[in-house]
Amino acid sequence: MLRALLISLSKAEWAKRLVTRWKVAWKVASRFIAGETLEEAMQVIQNLNAAGLNATVDYLGEHTTDAEEAHRATEATLAILEDIARRNLHANVSVKLSAIGLTVDRALCRQNLERIVSHARSLGNFVRVDMEDSSLVDATLDLIHWCYDQGYTNVGVAIQSYLYRSERDTRRLVERRVPIRLVKGAYKEPPEIAYPRKQDVDANFDRLTDVLLQGVVEAGVPQISADGRIPPIPALATHDEARIRYAQQRAERLGLPKTALEFQMLYGIRRDLQQELVRAGYPVRIYVPFGTHWYPYFMRRLAERPANLWFFVSNFFRR
Ligand code: FDA
Repeated sequence: MLRALLISLSKAEWAKRLVTRWKVAWKVASRFIAGETLEEAMQVIQNLNAAGLNATVDYLGEHTTDAEEAHRATEATLAILEDIARRNLHANVSVKLSAIGLTVDRALCRQNLERIVSHARSLGNFVRVDMEDSSLVDATLDLIHWCYDQGYTNVGVAIQSYLYRSERDTRRLVERRVPIRLVKGAYKEPPEIAYPRKQDVDANFDRLTDVLLQGVVEAGVPQISADGRIPPIPALATHDEARIRYAQQRAERLGLPKTALEFQMLYGIRRDLQQELVRAGYPVRIYVPFGTHWYPYFMRRLAERPANLWFFVSNFFRR
């Protein structure tokens, strides 16, 4: 109930105006967001890299309503790629297609995505397309397949284990060797299309982990470059220790090295576990969001864990 309410508030303009007015909201949100400027995000990434963690950078924004805004989001992503290269950071970018025009005009979104993917390729970098709510899944996957049809292989996509359709989508992507980031799913979806019970979402996460690992067995383990850069490998994006253990054990049983898969976590969540995995020899990548449009991202983080909401409320009354 609470999760559904917070997710629907994440889309409400009036709630956004109300919440972002409070200084205390930014105080709590900044636990999950690297800052409002590119410079702040780059500082965070430098520190993560120094601690052995890779990053994927997200310029916050979604559901842009006009071409100009989509253009600005595209330019911002190109600037991030430039800055990563200039500073020689171990980082790639994450992009929400609705930020670069998917909900305005698909042809415009395709053009913007091609600019980003092509620029990333020229810099030897990689683009991860986030998965958004179910109304955008078909269009997102179509654009990913379109990129591969055009010969762009430096792009991957997130797949959500709460959707019934995800095993079919995953198998098709694995066949084409499209790198996948597996997540549980952060939006509110109806039971006709998504598992309503957490245990089923978790069980499907493990099943999809099996599909991804089998894909590595068949395609071979990609090599890490001499300077330690991680090639696109299956990414398991979760803070759930049971899911992580399952993946580790399955990979071991299949005889895969630790570098055959990557764990990904969100900035500000389970730093202890991030470090533990690095110490154990696994590639770990942190999702680093930054920018001024942090409200919906922040609300989804509150929805995932009620304790975050109580932290927010208690800070509000302590002002
Ligand atoms: P689960 O919700 O079961 O949490 C397991 C444990 O993790 C909790 O017990 C708690 O300790 C900790 N935890 C989880 N969320 C927390 C929070 N907000 N604050 C504090 N602790 C928390 N979703 C999507 O739909 N599309 C996408 O593209 C992405 N991309 C993405 C990238 C990366 C790198 C990550 C890690 C996650 C995503 N997600 C996503 C979000 C994902 O779908 C999911 O909502 C969150 O990861 C939370 O689920 P867990 O897998 O952590 O499990």
